[in-house]
Amino acid sequence: MSSAASVDADATLRLFLALDLPVEERHALAAWARETVGHGRPVPADDLHITLAFLGDRPATEVPVIVEALAEAVAAHAVAPLAVRRWRETRSVGMLVLDDPEGGASRLREALRGRLVELGIPPAGPEPWLPHLTLARHRARSGERIAAPAGRTLVPSDAAAYLSRLSPTGARYTALARLPLHRTTEEDMG
Ligand code: 2AM
Repeated sequence: MSSAASVDADATLRLFLALDLPVEERHALAAWARETVGHGRPVPADDLHITLAFLGDRPATEVPVIVEALAEAVAAHAVAPLAVRRWRETRSVGMLVLDDPEGGASRLREALRGRLVELGIPPAGPEPWLPHLTLARHRARSGERIAAPAGRTLVPSDAAAYLSRLSPTGARYTALARLPLHRTTEEDMG
């Protein structure tokens, strides 16, 4: 793993923040996608994540303040299990769209976005946030009908700040910081 401290201070880094799933869950989802999705390039199990905020190219010196913003949001908001809703295809990816029935992940994400905007580091992409897990990348929509495992629950374990390095064989992700999530217990949910 790279360390933020070892990066040239003048460098910019392509950064994003995400929720991570436990390794067994990622492998199970990657296997489901390999068996079910008949087109495109599957995302490797190790790279599966639920994007909270894509920041793009940022000065390396901003990494500590970005990680602090993530840590504040994680400390303030517990996350409950997410549920698979449906399969969705865009021009470039296939994804499982997720529901956040208890709302903890959405509150964490909103607090994070608010703090990043205050810091002058606004996340790219559409609002409101649509929690999803990208499982395949492709060059064109296939129109393939895919039955999502609707209702399956996914329990994020950590939030992480990632460095994304682009290469001809696809992006490579390195976690710069990983923070365990507080889980919403059944008691909290009443
Ligand atoms: P997604 O595939 O989960 O939607 C790392 O590149 C992650 O950041 C990708 O998995 C992608 O999320 C998201 N991402 C990349 N480029 C983006 C952009 N221009 N706007 C919003 N999100 C982006």
